[in-house]
Amino acid sequence: MDKKEKQLRIGLAGLGNVGAGVYKNLEKNKSLLCERTGTELVVKKVAVRDLNRKRDVTVPSEKLTTDWKELINDPEIDIIVELIGGVDEAHELIVAALNANKAVVTGNKAVLAEKGKELIELSEKQNSPLYCEAAVAGGIPIIKAVKEALIGNRITSIFGIINGTSNYILTRMTSAGITFQEALEEATQKGFAEADPSLDINGWDAGHKAIILGWLSYGHWLRPEEVSVNGIEDISLDDVSFANDLGYEIKLLGVIRQAEGDERIEVRVSPTLIPKGHILSSVDGVFNAVAVHGDVVGETLFYGSGAGQDATSSAVISDLADAAENIHNDVGCTGFVPKGDFGTVLPLDETLSQYYLRLSVADRPGVLAQIADITGKNNVGILSVIQPEPASSSKHIPLVLLLHDASYGTVQNALSAILGLESVETKHTLLRVETLKS
Ligand SMILES: NC(=O)c1ccc[n+]([C@@H]2O[C@H](COP(=O)([O-])OP(=O)(O)OC[C@H]3O[C@@H](n4cnc5c(N)ncnc54)[C@H](OP(=O)(O)O)[C@@H]3O)[C@@H](O)[C@H]2O)c1
Repeated sequence: MDKKEKQLRIGLAGLGNVGAGVYKNLEKNKSLLCERTGTELVVKKVAVRDLNRKRDVTVPSEKLTTDWKELINDPEIDIIVELIGGVDEAHELIVAALNANKAVVTGNKAVLAEKGKELIELSEKQNSPLYCEAAVAGGIPIIKAVKEALIGNRITSIFGIINGTSNYILTRMTSAGITFQEALEEATQKGFAEADPSLDINGWDAGHKAIILGWLSYGHWLRPEEVSVNGIEDISLDDVSFANDLGYEIKLLGVIRQAEGDERIEVRVSPTLIPKGHILSSVDGVFNAVAVHGDVVGETLFYGSGAGQDATSSAVISDLADAAENIHNDVGCTGFVPKGDFGTVLPLDETLSQYYLRLSVADRPGVLAQIADITGKNNVGILSVIQPEPASSSKHIPLVLLLHDASYGTVQNALSAILGLESVETKHTLLRVETLKS
């Protein structure tokens, strides 16, 4: 067949923020894409929930349907793009598409984090590829980078700022000194936070992406309940300011790593102090960045827009271009599909890092010595201490400790003994500190 005669016939499920971007940008760069891929990428049918909704793209009415099954059952459609979001119906749709031997592109991190193992197994069984570049870090081509460009590496670690909304909020708390609530309201007004921002704020949007990166790096799908995820909702301006005094910035950080010789993998997300001099600390606002360390390549860094209509549709379109190539060369699942399901999860109690601990202690001599006695008995070293001037004549004052590398379990033991002291109030903040060395 003449290259120019080829078509990839697309069924687009979802015409919301991302779906509309895919439709718009496929039109915009139609001839460029045809030139580059030798294939015309044609949207044949589009499934939406509400036919009467006003949209910022115009789709001919004969292409629209409210029944996504029409896309699956249409023999003229080669590939389904799932952009409806959510878990259950998206899962049903992807399973139906793969069972109908159609390739699938999805940007849905939630469905992959919950059902990725089953979906990838089905994709392989059916020899129908499942592409997911848009599911992690929006427009940043991190899936391809880890899966293809870094294939010759054992991944030592991945550190990622992979949620734009929380990064915007933390950036504004740091740079403008506004509270979490004020920064969240500002993010909502500017369109950087969804009407329901809970998955961004509670860390789970990043948690889903970290699970996918864990699979890509180590071939192992962690179940969501095995992953430790903490959000940014309890970060106070005091913590931002104390972290700054200690030479750190607070970022919502995804950590994916495996120590050499250890089968167990660590996948977690939490607000974390990172050194101000590190390049990740300068990733501000809604931007994302992912630092990948491989044993052959060393340090690499990927930076860009982690969400938004155009950036995310760029990732979806790159998957469609791959699919065009594969379909027309009559190949199914190609390239490296991480599998083997090797490795187990490293229990949270055994994960190592430094820590930031903010306590509220009685304003009298000897309290620091009591605390140091407990940390010493638990083999947890103190790297530095700050004891700011009390803001009022309160009987209790803040005490901030930076603790040496220790396992989370050890620090929890020390902390419960510290909180048992009569001179220490129970309210406290314990955050991870990552030096970001591989
Ligand atoms: N937004 C981003 O920046 C971004 C970035 C990366 C990944 N993603 C992922 O991309 C996916 C889509 O996100 P989005 O922001 O585009 O969502 P969205 O704006 O809420 O759009 C969802 C679309 O799906 C349609 N839809 C929902 N249920 C449907 C059903 N049962 N049948 C047919 N159509 C249905 C909706 O139809 P109506 O329009 O008629 O309501 C809407 O067009 C999600 O998985 C998200 O996590 C988003």
